[in-house]
Amino acid sequence: MMDQNKLVIALTKGRILEEVLPLLQKAGVVPAEDIHKSRKLIFDSNIEDVQIMVIRGSDVPTYVELGSADIGITGKDILMEVGSDSYYEPLDLKLATCRLMTAAPVDQTITPKRLRVASKFVNIAKNYFSEQGRQVDIIKLNGALELAPIIGLADCIVDIVDTGNTLMANGLEPREHIADVSTRVIVNKASMKMKHDKIQSLLELLAAAVAENG
Ligand code: PRP
Repeated sequence: MMDQNKLVIALTKGRILEEVLPLLQKAGVVPAEDIHKSRKLIFDSNIEDVQIMVIRGSDVPTYVELGSADIGITGKDILMEVGSDSYYEPLDLKLATCRLMTAAPVDQTITPKRLRVASKFVNIAKNYFSEQGRQVDIIKLNGALELAPIIGLADCIVDIVDTGNTLMANGLEPREHIADVSTRVIVNKASMKMKHDKIQSLLELLAAAVAENG
């Protein structure tokens, strides 16, 4: 049975966390201890019955979909890759903004043969190229994608580009823009009904904090 008083917020560890914590603070939610100094994965907060989990971004949709977290905060890239409609996505926090792009070795013409595309975003890559009617082979990697074209494993990659420094450092250049990415709030559908007032007021406070950020 769902505890109607408890609200669990799942945050993405890493870069997103650094930007999300100040926003949450503006919305009145502060972890009871320093998340950075702890190896704990779930924290109490200044608000009774509000708990904060810190997990991998790709696990946030799973926790929210299954109701172990009421609210999740993660990147649009991850939400696009999961492609689920089993939770709501009510708010764009406009943080950790970047782009999903294809990238290939600088000045290298990609020949029209069947492209080999390396990515950790296999569904995004599949959808992008199939919408264009382009036949590709997708190679799933979990990180350091930039290596794949250098070593000849793939012709191009689909990856997150922020400053472009990682691409440049590896002799690659951004090519096609697939989507803009930013940090989003997702909400479990049952929680939205059962804990509507609590969630709605948090969403409003977060939206106000986003507006304040400009
Ligand atoms: C992302 C991405 C690139 C880098 C792009 O990796 O995969 O490697 O950031 O940023 P830039 O354009 O500013 O150089 P991230 O640091 O998120 O780590 P990851 O490999 O675990 O995804």
